[in-house]
Amino acid sequence: MQGPNMARGFFITLEGGEGSGKSTQARLLVERLCAEGRDVLLTREPGGTPLGERIREIILSSRPSADAEFLLFSAARAEHVASKISPALAGGRWVVCDRYLDSTRVYQGDLAGIDAGLLRTVEQHVVRTARPNLTLILDLPPETGRARATARGALNRYDAEQMAYHERIREGFLAIATTEPQRCTVIDASRDAEAVAHDVWQAVASRFALPTG
Ligand code: TYD
Repeated sequence: MQGPNMARGFFITLEGGEGSGKSTQARLLVERLCAEGRDVLLTREPGGTPLGERIREIILSSRPSADAEFLLFSAARAEHVASKISPALAGGRWVVCDRYLDSTRVYQGDLAGIDAGLLRTVEQHVVRTARPNLTLILDLPPETGRARATARGALNRYDAEQMAYHERIREGFLAIATTEPQRCTVIDASRDAEAVAHDVWQAVASRFALPTG
């Protein structure tokens, strides 16, 4: 619980296209933060709560309309923020989340065409004060991401989309990084996991004044 002297925790999100290695990097980042003595919650979207996991199954297994999909992702996020993310941050914990609001901006906004004003209104309502302090955008050419996803047998309906679609996803995330450079850091994710983890840690350490070695 948050006491009068309890510092609020920091919130880091990882974003990127399919096969960009977000889940691996999120796990490695949490290990490193824990080694530095931080108390960290690792979570993901869509999912992160029992309701969120059920919504994730619905979205991935049926083909909801763009409006329904946007509202389902937003509902999952509302539950996630209220039941996990905000309480953790208020309690002084760090939170690392694999995908968050930028995924909605790119997939539902840029690609599915949900109105930008509506998207921001719902985002503000759902997220409230749970805004990321740092967003790591794991960037790589779509061909590389798709090849990785195929190799690990992780093709879902999104992965089956055309290459142009993946290119638009990449451009969407890079555009966010350009618009919000103080929040976002772009990481070259086309390299091996160790090299990417090194850059992830440099970005986190410099942002939060942690040891870089
Ligand atoms: P998942 O298999 O969990 O993704 P990945 O391993 O790529 O992170 O599937 C999640 C899919 O949901 C992914 O294609 C991105 C999409 N998505 C949205 O469209 N909007 C959102 O707000 C979120 C969080 C995810």
